[in-house]
Parts: sequence; C-alpha cells; structure tokens
Amino acid sequence: MIPTPDLSHIQKEDFDRVYEPAEDTFLLLDALEEDQELIQLLQPRVCLEIGSGSGCVTTLLAKIVGDANAIFLTTDINEFACQTTKRTALHNEITHIEPLRTSLVEGLLPRLKNSIDILCFNPPYVVTTHEEVAGTGIEASWAGGIDGREVIDKLLPYISILLSTNGIFYLLLINENKPMEVVKIMEEAYQMKAEIFMERRAGREKQYILKIQHLKNE
Ligand SMILES: C[S@@+](CC[C@H](N)C(=O)[O-])C[C@H]1O[C@@H](n2cnc3c(N)ncnc32)[C@H](O)[C@@H]1O
Repeated sequence: MIPTPDLSHIQKEDFDRVYEPAEDTFLLLDALEEDQELIQLLQPRVCLEIGSGSGCVTTLLAKIVGDANAIFLTTDINEFACQTTKRTALHNEITHIEPLRTSLVEGLLPRLKNSIDILCFNPPYVVTTHEEVAGTGIEASWAGGIDGREVIDKLLPYISILLSTNGIFYLLLINENKPMEVVKIMEEAYQMKAEIFMERRAGREKQYILKIQHLKNE
C-alpha cells in the first residue's frame, strides 16, 4: 500500500487559498490505488491532473507509476494551487511534476493530442449559480454552476482527443452532476467506454469515480 502523501508542509491558513483534501480527494486516491497494478502495466509516459489543488493526487500517482522518466503535468486555474502542488511533490521527493496555471487543458493541445496515459480530475462539482463559476481563488474549488456540471462539461469534448490509445480518465462526480448522463454523453457523443468504477457516500454527498477510456476493438 502506498501511503497518502505527507502534507505537513502546508499550513492551516494555506487552506484558505487552496482546496484541503477531503473525502472526494480520498475517493480519487483510492481509485488510483485500486488500479495500481493496471496503471503500472500501462507504463504511463505522460500523466495529467486537472485542478491539482494541494498536489496530493498527482504526488500519489507519481509514486504509483514510480518511473523517473514519466512526465507529470498538472493544471489549475488558481496560482496558489499550482505553487502548492509543486511544494507537495518536492516535500514527498517527487521532482518531476510540472504545474501549469491554466484553465482545464488550455495551451496543452495540439502538443498533447492522443498522448495522455493517465488523466485525473476532481472538479468543482457543487451546484451553484452560473455567475459563481468565474473565480480563480478558493471558490473555484467547488463552484460548479448549473447541476455542478459547467466546468466538467467544458472538458468532456477534449477527453477523446487527449487520451492515448490505452489511456484512462478518472473523473470524480457527485449525484447532483448526473453521473449516468455523463456516461451516456461519453458513449454516444464521443464513442468512448465509460463506467462507474467506484462510489461512496460522504455525509450528504454520494460520490462516484467514472472511468473513461477509448473503445477497444475486441
Ligand atoms: C475539488 S478541488 C480538487 C483539488 C485536488 N485535486 C484534490 O482532489 O484535493 C478542484 C480544483 O480544481 C481547480 N479548478 C477549478 N476550475 C478549474 C479550471 N477551469 N481549470 C483548472 N483547474 C480548475 C480548483 O482551483 C481546485 O484546485
């Protein structure tokens, strides 16, 4: 078992500016751990986490992959999150993480077309007004707009373009985001394989991990 990354370098007040890992983060970490062998078999060359926040997820992923030649890219719209991601990686002796302050995958295409082997996103998923989605500070951690899906829906068209042939996308959703509707969109609009891989109740929230991949010719 790979231990949860050490976050002792992050001060309590830092979590006023960057998302503090919570049950949703831990469900994503558990999904990666559950698929640890599969991920290692894939021998990922390029991994990308969107919305990396504290950097906890990417740091664990880098430990699972365990290959100093693999590239770990992260994006976040919040500059402080990008800095914290780098600090968390270094604090856990991971030196090959490259955080980029951008929205979703802006600036990564066409360079990374069909090259992401592992993609992760624990998005801002809380149902809010549309107006609340505009921020780049801590509010961007949760404000998801209508159905909590506004940021998520912007990313969906890029998944099939970004993933490598055997690439896997792990996406966290909650019930209000209508996970089965996302499965249907990925299958019908983008001809991808999508399934609910894990689910867990966290207080009033029902959380899911969707696993999305290219269809294989079997
Ligand atoms: C729920 S937090 C997850 C943080 C971390 N990955 C975790 O699991 O603890 C969502 C993260 O997405 C970032 N975010 C929100 N909108 C974004 C966007 N358009 N592009 C990139 N990152 C975004 C937020 O700043 C925040 O760090």
